[in-house]
Amino acid sequence: MSKIYIANWKMQLKLAKSLALLKEFKYKLEIKRNAKVIVCPDFLSLGYIAAQIGQERIFPFHLGAQNTGQLDKGALTGDVSALNLKKIGVNYIILGHSERRQAGEVNSLIKEKILNCLNLNLYPIVCLGESKAEKKAKLTNKVIARQLKELFDFNKENKRIKNIIIAYEPLWAIGTNLACKPEDANMVFEIINNFFAKKFKVKPACLYGGSVNTGNAASFLKQENIDGLLVGGESLSLSKFNKIINSY
Ligand code: PGA
Repeated sequence: MSKIYIANWKMQLKLAKSLALLKEFKYKLEIKRNAKVIVCPDFLSLGYIAAQIGQERIFPFHLGAQNTGQLDKGALTGDVSALNLKKIGVNYIILGHSERRQAGEVNSLIKEKILNCLNLNLYPIVCLGESKAEKKAKLTNKVIARQLKELFDFNKENKRIKNIIIAYEPLWAIGTNLACKPEDANMVFEIINNFFAKKFKVKPACLYGGSVNTGNAASFLKQENIDGLLVGGESLSLSKFNKIINSY
């Protein structure tokens, strides 16, 4: 499987800076043939890009969104339609990021968003992970199993299940400079792969996220069960992100 790299820019950049960085990535990012890069700027930047025409809109990477509403259209003030995202060329959508969960999103809602994305043949990047207290109490495996059960509590026959990308992001590792041990993340993906094999008979792409940097990226990518990385802070720098995507 080719490696997948996600740049999650969160809400870190002013619009002009975000557009400038997209341009820099467009011309200077060195993407190997067997790598898939997905850049997730904020919604406003996506809208600007969509409004551009011709060459300006063409990138050597895929565009992703950081969230979506659970319906294509409807009374969802402040939300963004996955259908509209698809129409502007966004095929990947991060769902259930811990920063969205902190803002109140729960597994049942995230499940609706996953289903809506699958119906539209989009690729949901579904985030899960345990908190610091859960890790301390050695509950990681239990928490992951519960999250999987709740997030993917749907029809086994869904043909688009193979679109699902899983991002294991331990909450305590996000933005803290305290990455998970690569071997521990590898074990968590065993649970995830077993769940998907048993329930859906497919293997999802498995990404690790949480304080990934130029120094530790290779040690994650070497792990048998890790198919790629979800990068936050270090994806805001062309040179650092370039190093990360070329470290394997
Ligand atoms: P980080 O963020 O790489 O800055 O830890 C990862 C994420 O939250 O997606």
